[in-house]
Amino acid sequence: MQLLSTIAAAVVGLSSVAMACDACTGEGDIELVRRVRLVHARMQPDAIPAVVGPKGPLPWGQLTVAHTSDTHGWLIGHVKEANYGADWGDYVSFIRHMRYKARSLGVDFLVLDSGDLHDGAGLSDATAKLPGGVNGQVSLPIFRNLDYDLLTIGNHELYVNDIAQDVFLNFAKFYGDRYLTSNVQIRDPADGKFKYIGRTHKYFTTHYGLRIMAFGILFDFTSNGNNSKIIMAKELVQQQWFQDALHQPQPIDVFLVLGHTSVRDPVTFPLVLEAIRKVHPNTPVQFFGGHSHNRDFKIYDRASTGLEPGRYCETLGWFAMSGINAGTGSRHPKGVPNPTRTARNTTISAGPPEYANPAENSTELVYARRFLDWNRLTFETHSDNVRQFDTPRGAAVSTKVGEERKRLNLTEAYGCSPQTYCRFCVKQDDPNSVYSLVQTALAATIINETRKDIPRMIFVNTGGIRFDLFKGAFTYDDSFIVAPFTNKFQYIPSVPYSMAKQVLDFLNSGAPQKRSLEREMRRSFLPRTVDACPLNGAQFTTAMRKRRVITRRQQVTTQGYVTSDDFGSDGDDTPHEAVPHFSTTNDIVAKGGFPADGKDPEVVDVVFYDFIQSYVLVALEKAGKKYSKNDVSYYLPPSYTSNDFLPDYARKFWTKDCLKPLP
Ligand SMILES: *[C@@H]1O[C@H](CO)[C@@H](O)[C@H](O)[C@H]1NC(C)=O
Ligand SMILES: *[C@@H]1O[C@H](CO)[C@@H](O)[C@H](O)[C@H]1NC(C)=O
Ligand SMILES: *[C@@H]1O[C@H](CO)[C@@H](O)[C@H](O)[C@H]1NC(C)=O
Ligand SMILES: *[C@@H]1O[C@H](CO)[C@@H](O)[C@H](O)[C@H]1NC(C)=O
Ligand SMILES: *[C@@H]1O[C@H](CO)[C@@H](O)[C@H](O)[C@H]1NC(C)=O
Ligand SMILES: [Zn+2]
Ligand SMILES: [Zn+2]
Repeated sequence: MQLLSTIAAAVVGLSSVAMACDACTGEGDIELVRRVRLVHARMQPDAIPAVVGPKGPLPWGQLTVAHTSDTHGWLIGHVKEANYGADWGDYVSFIRHMRYKARSLGVDFLVLDSGDLHDGAGLSDATAKLPGGVNGQVSLPIFRNLDYDLLTIGNHELYVNDIAQDVFLNFAKFYGDRYLTSNVQIRDPADGKFKYIGRTHKYFTTHYGLRIMAFGILFDFTSNGNNSKIIMAKELVQQQWFQDALHQPQPIDVFLVLGHTSVRDPVTFPLVLEAIRKVHPNTPVQFFGGHSHNRDFKIYDRASTGLEPGRYCETLGWFAMSGINAGTGSRHPKGVPNPTRTARNTTISAGPPEYANPAENSTELVYARRFLDWNRLTFETHSDNVRQFDTPRGAAVSTKVGEERKRLNLTEAYGCSPQTYCRFCVKQDDPNSVYSLVQTALAATIINETRKDIPRMIFVNTGGIRFDLFKGAFTYDDSFIVAPFTNKFQYIPSVPYSMAKQVLDFLNSGAPQKRSLEREMRRSFLPRTVDACPLNGAQFTTAMRKRRVITRRQQVTTQGYVTSDDFGSDGDDTPHEAVPHFSTTNDIVAKGGFPADGKDPEVVDVVFYDFIQSYVLVALEKAGKKYSKNDVSYYLPPSYTSNDFLPDYARKFWTKDCLKPLP
């Protein structure tokens, strides 16, 4: 075994991660299902099993790929969401079974990752809060238990110099020539010189004889820390090493281009494809993207398509192709669905059905793609319900994940949320919206004792909330998941209410607040924002207000991703009911200490995140009074941030009912 992990072989029983909160996750019926399945459910012990599994077996082709991207530290899995309950150990076991199956089908199988391993969950982020700690120092060694064939780097590896250096010194070294960073360099602390973090490219031959040229490319990212350097795509394609790789004398059967970039990005992949096509007009070029956090599949030309596998360990991307005129791999592996669709044009509305028999001996390239829900039921089903699903390594990883959750105090709960609050599934003023909760919590927690008798209006940006907040225990882990940023609370004292009441409208009619993002990203322990705007808004709302189970014509459907892409709308491995999507305004306001009689106050304290200070000053000026930075001071100590008020509220106002052990 090439990959010796840091994890000791000792496999401890599940009981070592006894969870305090079993009773408060999920609805009753789901709990029931869970007890039944617990017998062989590995996952994390408090995770909820999926109730609905895949629609059918996975397609396999001459070249088949499992693809992750934008895992952002979610190696624990989504313990509160049935659709995505698997942990990293379950995935490790699954890939082992898939490698075995590929060999028995006689096809090549590759496992790929497109980056963004940091920022988004407690397992990756909590270590940055420890003295001398770095984001990812616990999560990356766990991630490394997966024997990836090829990986590339994401922008979230490059905002903070310490993280970039950790990736260079540890992660890149570990994966060696499989970690591809074709356009990303770092200043080597040893000699001060800029070097590629991983390798620029890799030329290799697969088990069944496909000769592959692979690259790993980051989009034209410019907000990186000052110890790294990104070469823009248009420069990259002209570099001598890149041209040499295209013109090498050895044959190339397939190009694999991993990229931390959306498959819809008009720059990166199109430029790379154009450069390849000048030298190799007909060779298959397969792109594996990321960064936009979408499930997506795009057709570039008849020999080139791109897959994007979503985010946060919610989705595993699956890709299969046949018709490559090389190698000895089976073009029509038996007993499984095979890829059938050509990449002829981008307006396919009614392509051949997914399971149609492929035209025998077709010389055309044919493709299939699938987006798998990241849960134990998915993984077991596609492993043909093998009797012993957990491999020793997979089981050890699940155990390790559980131990680290506990050691980092991620399961420590502040209180029990009485209900689920979502970001987009209802209007933002609905009582079930997380923004209603944020307003209530801000009003109850953001109080300066010496000014508590002066009414206050607290302005915050909606983008600071990153995820839905689920019913049940609200934990330290959730504090990173829901509100990871560390905005400080500032204020301008005693502003005439006639002006203050106009501020919100001015804030919301302005441009989205991204201007100072880049500066902020370097300063805080966590970046302000995760990646580009979603391209398909509706897809982005994965989480559920209620874990609703809809029964229809004997079929059970849960809410979740409903994907449509260049191959149509049958890509989801488990079909879902769409989650409603409502957009939000830039900012919201919470009001505290207003007169009980409902009368307007004379003056109010205008409180806001330091992050939106400049916007608030502009809004006040539009409302009729010019204030400057000199009028701004801290309303609460700068150590109290936007990462603190929800835990604070939960501790003070929510019950501890859900924390009681089961009777
Ligand atoms: C990089 O930025 C840090 C502050 O973030 C600064 O201390 C350091 O001097 C900078 N290094 C270079 C080489 O510019
Ligand atoms: C594109 O695909 C559609 C549906 O398969 C087909 O009707 C149409 O002729 C194709 N167009 C081209 C230019 O190949
Ligand atoms: C497909 O190819 C095989 C092997 O070359 C040949 O035996 C078979 O007759 C071909 N089938 C068709 C439908 O052409
Ligand atoms: C976890 O919490 C305990 C008790 O509050 C504390 O002693 C310990 O230092 C914490 N560990 C970490 C890694 O934060
Ligand atoms: C409350 O506001 C006053 C006046 O700005 C400030 O001096 C004091 O430090 C604030 N209190 C806290 C706890 O931050
Ligand atoms: Zn990302
Ligand atoms: Zn990204």
